[in-house]
Amino acid sequence: MAGLFTTIETPNNIKYEQPLGLFINNEFVKGSEGKTFETINPTTEKPIVAVHEASEKDVDLAVAAARKAFEGEWRLVTPTKRGRMLLKLAELFERDIDILAAIESLDNGKSLSMAKGDVTNAAGCLRYYGGWADKIHGQTIDQNPQTLNYTRHEPIGVCGQIIPWNFPILMWSWKIGPAVATGNTVLLKSAEQTPLSALYAAKLVKEAGFPPGVVNIISGFGRVAGAAISNHMDIDKVAFTGSTLVGRTILQAAAKSNLKKVTLELGGKSPNIIFDDADIDNAISWANFGIFYNHGQCCCAGSRILVQEGIYDKVVARLKERATQNKVGDPFHHETFQGPQVSQLQFDRIMEYIDHGKKGGATVAVGGERHGTEGYFIQPTVFTDVTTEMKINQEEIFGPVVTVQKFKDVEDAIKIGNSTAYGLAAGIHTKDVNTAIRVSNALRAGTVWVNSYNMLSYQVPFGGFKESGIGRELGSYALENYTQTKAVHYFLGDSPF
Ligand code: NAI
Ligand code: MG
Repeated sequence: MAGLFTTIETPNNIKYEQPLGLFINNEFVKGSEGKTFETINPTTEKPIVAVHEASEKDVDLAVAAARKAFEGEWRLVTPTKRGRMLLKLAELFERDIDILAAIESLDNGKSLSMAKGDVTNAAGCLRYYGGWADKIHGQTIDQNPQTLNYTRHEPIGVCGQIIPWNFPILMWSWKIGPAVATGNTVLLKSAEQTPLSALYAAKLVKEAGFPPGVVNIISGFGRVAGAAISNHMDIDKVAFTGSTLVGRTILQAAAKSNLKKVTLELGGKSPNIIFDDADIDNAISWANFGIFYNHGQCCCAGSRILVQEGIYDKVVARLKERATQNKVGDPFHHETFQGPQVSQLQFDRIMEYIDHGKKGGATVAVGGERHGTEGYFIQPTVFTDVTTEMKINQEEIFGPVVTVQKFKDVEDAIKIGNSTAYGLAAGIHTKDVNTAIRVSNALRAGTVWVNSYNMLSYQVPFGGFKESGIGRELGSYALENYTQTKAVHYFLGDSPF
C-alpha cells in the first residue's frame, strides 16, 4: 500500500518529495477504495511509483469539497485576491521549474529542455489569467429611462477538467488558470499515464494560499473517474482535452446528465503547406518542428506536409535529411530532441499506422521502425507516395510520422488541406502575402501559422473547427468558457400593469 508521499530522485539527480494521494480540500488523501496504480517511465518501460486511484466516490468527495468552497469561502474572496493567488502560484512554478521539468521528463518522456519550456509557459499562463481576475465585467445597457439594465459575468460553478498526457503541466495551467481567475472551483483529473506533475503542482496550490476545496486534483482512469466527472449531476461544466472519441462520450454524458457546459479540445490532422516560392530553409525547419516536436504527440501537429509540385523533390530530399538529424534518445541527455512515446499502447498504435501505411502502398522515405530496443522510441518517419484517402492521411497518428503530398496550385492546396474531418491547425509557407491571406482565410482551421508552426501563446486563442473541438482556450476567449452572463433588469418606476 502506497503512502501519501515518497522521495524521488530523477536521472538528473534532483531529489524531491512526490505527493501520491488525491488532493481534496487542500489535503493529500488515500483513495476510498484503497486502490493504487503505477505510472511508467517510458524511457525504461519500468514503473516509477504507484499513486492513489480515484473511485467514483472520490469524485463525489472532491465535487462536494469544490461545491462547498464555491458556495462559501471562495465567493468572499475579491477578484484582486484571486488574481494574486494565481500570480503567487506562477512564481512557485518558476521557483520549482527544475523539479517540475524533471518530473515531466521522467513521467512523460519529453526532453528536459522542452519540459522546461512547458513549465515556463504554464507559469506564464497562470500569471496571464491572474492578471485577468479583476478585469472581468459586464455591461450597463440603456434600455429606457425607467430601467437600469446591467450584466454580470458570473462564474459557472464547479468545473470538472480532464487533461491528457502529452503536455501534463501545461494543460493543467490552461485549465486551472481561467477557471480560477473567473471565480470557479475545480476538480481536475490528470491522465493515468502522467499523474506526477499534477500532484506536485497541487502542493504548490496549497502553498500559494488558495482556500481548501478551490482546486482539487485527482489521479485516475478515464472510464472510472473521467466518466464519473462527465456524468456528475453536481458538476456545472466540463473542459476536456484528448481524443475525439472520448470527446463524443463526454458530450453525450453531459446531455444525459445535467446538461453541464462542455468545451472540447480534440484531435487534428493538420496540413503544413509549402508553396514554390517559400524560403526553403525556414520551411524545412518548421515542417520538421511541426511534426516531430513533442514526438508528434501534439493535437496541432503538422502531420500532413503538402508541397507544391515545383519544389516537391527538393523538399522531400531535404526533409529526409533533416528528420534523420533529430536526436532521438534519453530525455535527460542535453542533445535529445525526441524522447520515447508515452506508453506501450501509444507505441503500438503508431507502429500499427506505420504498418498500415507500408501495406497500403505508401513509401517510407525515412524511418518506419522502432528506435533501439528499450523504451517506446520510434524513428522519425516520413511517408511519400500517399493519396488523400489513405488512412495514414486521414486519421490522427499522434506520433513522429508525417505524410508528404504534392499539390498543383492554391485551389488544390485548399482542397487537400480541408480534406479531413478535423480542423485544428494549419501552416502556410510562402513569400506571397496574397497567397498567405487567401489560403489562411479558406482553410477550415482554428489556428493558422504563416511561415512558422506550433508557436502557441497563452495570449492567443486556441481551439478547433469541425471535429477538432468546441470552444476556445487561452487568451481572453477562454474567459467565456468559465463565465455565464446574468442580465439584471432594475425597474425604477411604478408598475404600468
Ligand atoms: P483519451 O482521450 O482516452 O485520454 C485523454 C483523457 O481522457 C485522459 O485523462 C483519460 O483518462 C480521459 N478519459 C478516457 N476515457 C474517458 C471517458 N470515457 N470519460 C472521461 N474521460 C476519459 O486519449 P488516449 O487514449 O490517451 O489517446 C488516444 C488518442 O487520443 C491519441 O492517439 C491521440 O490521437 C488523441 N489524443 C489527443 C490529445 C490532444 O491533445 N487533443 C491528447 C491525448 C490524446
Ligand atoms: Mg508515465
